[in-house]
Amino acid sequence: MTAFPCKPAILLALALCAGAAPAQAQSTVADGQKLAFDRGKGNCLTCHIIKGGDLPGTIGPELKDLKAKYPDRNELTAIIFDETKRNPQTMMPPFGRNRILTEQEISAIVDFLQTL
Ligand code: HEC
Repeated sequence: MTAFPCKPAILLALALCAGAAPAQAQSTVADGQKLAFDRGKGNCLTCHIIKGGDLPGTIGPELKDLKAKYPDRNELTAIIFDETKRNPQTMMPPFGRNRILTEQEISAIVDFLQTL
């Protein structure tokens, strides 16, 4: 009987852990949009028109139909990680190389870009 009082607590903890993972996967698109629009993070709107974003700049091309243009998500990841590899003259900051964004944050932004 001594171990019994612990059991409900363990079951509750397992239930919470099991519930957390799918919720996170579903929200990566929303997280990516938030990061892309956040002026202190991705700040992508300074240079790109993006559907749903306010006051965009036009230094870079409008971000749309990206899934058709870059079917391989690794290409989009590489562009955000360090566009200077494709174009040494680019204005676009190397978000990954400069550690402005983590790999996880870039992955969430790629999820969002693929919905545009
Ligand atoms: C300082 C301006 C600037 C910022 C900030 C910026 N970009 Fe760019 N981006 C550019 C420019 C300019 C290009 C055009 C390609 C080049 O210069 O090599 C580009 C190209 C791209 C492309 C390729 C588009 C295509 O149609 O081929 C993607 C995708 C992209 N940017 C995503 C982003 C994302 C996501 C962010 C925010 C995390 C961002 N950019 C922030 C300037 C910027």
